[in-house]
Amino acid sequence: MDPMSETTPVVEMRNIRKNFAAVQALRGIDLVLNHGEVLGLVGDNAAGKSTLMKVLSGAYIPEEGEIFIEGKKAHFTDPMHARRLGIEMVYQDLALANNLDVTSNVFLGREAVSTHLGSFSVMDSRRMEQEAQRLLDRLKIDIPSVRLLVERLSGGQRQAVAITRAMAFNSKVIIMDEPTAALSVAAISKVLELVRELKAQGASVIIISHRLEDIYSVSDRLMVMRNGRKVRDCPIEGDIDNFREGVVAYMIGARDDFAQEAKAEVG
Ligand SMILES: Nc1ncnc2c1ncn2[C@@H]1O[C@H](COP(=O)(O)OP(=O)(O)OP(=O)(O)O)[C@@H](O)[C@H]1O
Ligand SMILES: [Mg+2]
Repeated sequence: MDPMSETTPVVEMRNIRKNFAAVQALRGIDLVLNHGEVLGLVGDNAAGKSTLMKVLSGAYIPEEGEIFIEGKKAHFTDPMHARRLGIEMVYQDLALANNLDVTSNVFLGREAVSTHLGSFSVMDSRRMEQEAQRLLDRLKIDIPSVRLLVERLSGGQRQAVAITRAMAFNSKVIIMDEPTAALSVAAISKVLELVRELKAQGASVIIISHRLEDIYSVSDRLMVMRNGRKVRDCPIEGDIDNFREGVVAYMIGARDDFAQEAKAEVG
């Protein structure tokens, strides 16, 4: 393996801009995600976090900016395109089909899949069930049967199914938008375990959360957004109280590490 590839970021986004009519949702954002890194993405409501991640997962096409995946420039036209490059997003609303079973949800929207077991048609239900179970086992997820309808699962189990789906095809980058928002304390710690497990297996993760203690406990690095801009980008260190205080100052606009750059650009 090329030794350079370990130091090239798995994702680099440069100067990303995205507008919705008069709303400047993203106003020139840079983001770096390194191999095997968990990046915590925080910011107040409407800061632009979900929009930025939808750009990275191919759901939105930005007006401006560049995306590099492992150093190669990418022009995503749709989510399938990003998926082929190993980028998967678990949406804020999960987007599971509640009336289908666990296996069907894991393979939802894929006509044919290939894993290291080789290619197989999703019509092959027995193999799909085996593969779904293997994935759940690999992520140490405890769901009684892959034949259970998703509507019969708890919130935490649903989140686990959504993450399994994102993880199913050797994804390099998993984006999670508020994975712990609607969960019980026990379920939250399971999801955070899952993030650590993904990292241990070599994936890179971006996690969006309003729960700063979750970000603190699983992330290596922190990025704070405010009004469509990046205001903070730093490793996570120190104790939780300092961390929380610092983050809040950036979230509410009391501090901004990139204010000079933003001003220079306007002027
Ligand atoms: N599809 C859309 N159409 C129009 N405006 C949108 C759309 N999606 C997002 N916006 C606007 O873009 C801005 C950023 O929204 P975004 O959803 O990215 O914020 P967020 O940081 O994810 O917030 P939250 O923490 O509430 O999820 C907001 O002003 C929002 O109203
Ligand atoms: Mg959001």
